[in-house]
Amino acid sequence: MATLDFLNFVDANKDSFIQRLAQAVEIPSVSGDPVHRDDVFRMASFLESQLKNYGVETKAVDLGTHVMEGQKLKLPPAILGRIGDVKSKKTILIYGHFDVQPAQLSDGWDFPPFKLTRDDKTGRLYGRGSSDDKGPIFGWINILEAHHTLKKPLPVNLRFCFEGMEESGSEGLDEFILAEVKKGKDSWFDGVDAVCISDNYWLNTRTPVLTYGLRGISYYKVIVSGPARDLHSGVFGRTVHEPMTDLVALMSRLVDTKGNILIPGVDEMVPPPSEEERQLYKNLDYEVEDVELSAGAKVALSEDKASVLMGRMRLPSLSLHGIEGAFYGAGGKTVIPAKVAGKFSIRLVPPQTPDNVHPLVIKYLHDEFAKLGSKNTISVESLHGGKPWVEDYKHWSYEAAHRATEAVYKQAPDYTREGGSIPVTLTFAEALGVNVLLLPMGRGDDGAHSTNEKLDISNFIQGTKLLGSYLYEVAAGTKA
Ligand code: BES
Ligand code: MN
Ligand code: MN
Repeated sequence: MATLDFLNFVDANKDSFIQRLAQAVEIPSVSGDPVHRDDVFRMASFLESQLKNYGVETKAVDLGTHVMEGQKLKLPPAILGRIGDVKSKKTILIYGHFDVQPAQLSDGWDFPPFKLTRDDKTGRLYGRGSSDDKGPIFGWINILEAHHTLKKPLPVNLRFCFEGMEESGSEGLDEFILAEVKKGKDSWFDGVDAVCISDNYWLNTRTPVLTYGLRGISYYKVIVSGPARDLHSGVFGRTVHEPMTDLVALMSRLVDTKGNILIPGVDEMVPPPSEEERQLYKNLDYEVEDVELSAGAKVALSEDKASVLMGRMRLPSLSLHGIEGAFYGAGGKTVIPAKVAGKFSIRLVPPQTPDNVHPLVIKYLHDEFAKLGSKNTISVESLHGGKPWVEDYKHWSYEAAHRATEAVYKQAPDYTREGGSIPVTLTFAEALGVNVLLLPMGRGDDGAHSTNEKLDISNFIQGTKLLGSYLYEVAAGTKA
């Protein structure tokens, strides 16, 4: 059980915790936009200084460079931390990401996205990154502050690995982890007994969850080009092969309107659920209405709860994201774009991997393009990928999180798999050979990546207690 002085400290310091989160949200650490790269670096320094304040030994790891939008850029450092080296204690590795998705007021926000707006009427904190993933990261910092100030030893040894490129495919991180693990006794990850990641959400707004699975992802860009320059549709319409027409035809053949993936072999790789597994989904505290509530409209693909939930958690999906180079401005410009690039991604589940799905995607795109009989040309690029992950939840780390949830929220958690991806999860599981737990702080309606992203104050505060209590339960559960 977490000690009373820790829990009281968290309650007593609510306002200063929120202020610190506000400082973090004010740094627009958008990893996907070269303009904000300096801000990601600033965020890394802020986080490192916070860790240092509370007695954590740190290291900023240079992850090298990469190319984004034709520019060579320095990758933001991974921030490592280490506190506690007591042989009799368990060692938990904490992962989180300090980069965020882009956000602009003009996207439809009701609040400035890079200011933390506190609304005491609804009990919410609005701002980009409040839930994904600065709130949870600063939950861990709150715990460090509490123990440092109270001069209490932490119940476990902690290691930290925070990165600044998660929203852009975790570039550079896998290579670093694999090289680090090879150092054996000298590795920062030496002696780690389990990994805990707080970077997902409850299904609904009332029931805490422990998460034991994530989908992987394979992101593609299909480029169709032909004419040497943009053309006038009055002069060239019905005269030339139009890249946009070819691309739309191609993209329409990837997925049907019911969500079935049309690339032969992709859906077929996944075994159907047993009746027992279907039952698991039926029992979750999450209804089709909840899905529609968080989507903001009655648009669920089915009325059957298990089908809807399996669509998110245990089946692959293919989403069409956008077309670069297409005309999208106001008014009716009569242009034939000379070069367009369609973006889509496939969320993967075991046994799918970016590598085993890739040849199927490439062959299908080329075969279907050939059927169009177009004189334009296509090329396909793969932007980023990550493998899916499913964990054994009958493990002391999950049991500790279960007890911590009951202690803080007075209810048992649901066990979920998530539709999103955190590419590093499987890397940690495989490279360290230890159990990985996803222990979320936020709610299902937080709106990560969306407008008006928020974190409920109660989730920030109770969530800090939950993460802290988890560490105490790990210690308690393994003393015997
Ligand atoms: N926190 C999310 C992962 C997530 C999303 C968990 C939805 C549960 C539900 C993470 O920050 C994220 O957005 N990941 C990206 C990864 C991608 C860019 C490789 C994603 O899932 O799109
Ligand atoms: Mn995240
Ligand atoms: Mn995210």
